Amino acid sequence: RDDGLGRTPQMGWSSWNHFGCGINEMVIRSTVDALVSTGLANAGYTYVNLDDCWADNQRTEQGLMSVNPKTFPSGIKALADYAHSKGLKLGLYSSAGTRTCSDKMPGSLGHEDIDAKTFASWDADYLKYDNCYRDDSNETVRFPKMSLALSNAGRPIFYSICEWGFMNVATWGGQYGNSWRTTGDINDTWASMLSNIDTNDAYAGYAKPGGWNDPDMLEVGNGGMSYREYVVHFSLWAIAKAPLIIGCDVSSISKETLSILTNSEVIAINQDPIGIQGKKVRKYDDEIEVWAGPLSQQRTAVLLLNRGAAGSRQVTAAWPDIVIGAGVAVEARDVWEDREHETLPGKFTGSLTAEVAPHSCKLFVLTPVAGQAGGAS
Ligand code: GLA
Repeated sequence: RDDGLGRTPQMGWSSWNHFGCGINEMVIRSTVDALVSTGLANAGYTYVNLDDCWADNQRTEQGLMSVNPKTFPSGIKALADYAHSKGLKLGLYSSAGTRTCSDKMPGSLGHEDIDAKTFASWDADYLKYDNCYRDDSNETVRFPKMSLALSNAGRPIFYSICEWGFMNVATWGGQYGNSWRTTGDINDTWASMLSNIDTNDAYAGYAKPGGWNDPDMLEVGNGGMSYREYVVHFSLWAIAKAPLIIGCDVSSISKETLSILTNSEVIAINQDPIGIQGKKVRKYDDEIEVWAGPLSQQRTAVLLLNRGAAGSRQVTAAWPDIVIGAGVAVEARDVWEDREHETLPGKFTGSLTAEVAPHSCKLFVLTPVAGQAGGAS
């Protein structure tokens, strides 16, 4: 939506994928601290988002949503102040229904205005708005209501629509929200991750600065996938201009996980100012795909993917598929190579081929260079 927020996909952390309902103010405070001490905050991960289960089970007698006093005794305002004091932002969660999905707290249906004002009075910066315990009215009615309520709340609040792709949300989500979920919930498996990004891919044309397709939060670091699979997960989210919302416990994050999440060249693909969602441009067979999208300064991001488990495969990105002119020579930078970064020797015209290990990808940034290719391709 056109409120100045989300000009690039949002980056941050959310409690849900790792902690579920097991959140409290110590978890959130240590997350804030860890985001800063690990360098994740500096890398751009700004939003610290409380997902489900932060509020008290019932509204107050005045009809207000209030914090769970057992788990958040200091209140949300204190937590927002703490996040702000460290240069971060605080996010909250509710549902366009009578209860949230956990059934542990009220939803905002019929209380949109008062809840938006309450969240703003606590200096919240973000709202993820879910779709459980809805009535029989459409998403196209319930989600815009909260959008308007947030606009009138007196504070810029990023609006993350989470209705799982119903009613073709990508076609109207951008009018009301800064991002919209296109899928059901991700889980920490290779199959779920790929299924979500495939579903999300169908809506690539609707993403733009101010509004993004959301294939759900990152599972990187939660333990269900291998290092190379998490590299694929992060690379696909980056090229697809998906929100980069970390879902692991950053207080105990491993070096390996950190090296994935802080890869600045991969983040730069995601945060590129022209904001065009990269998409699947070629499927050779059930295992081999090429994903690509334009970047600023005439550059192109290209992802060579081997979804298969059997063995390494040669994967070719052909210029017509990735929309590079026939005679154009490029330099190719591998943004993951050996967990370092490497510019491949030589120039390429016509195509770029690389060997890709099973359940792995290669991610390149191609930059046009003067002159014709010197033979390598
Ligand atoms: C839904 C959402 C999830 C998460 C849970 C919380 O399933 O899609 O992302 O917010 O609710 O209960």
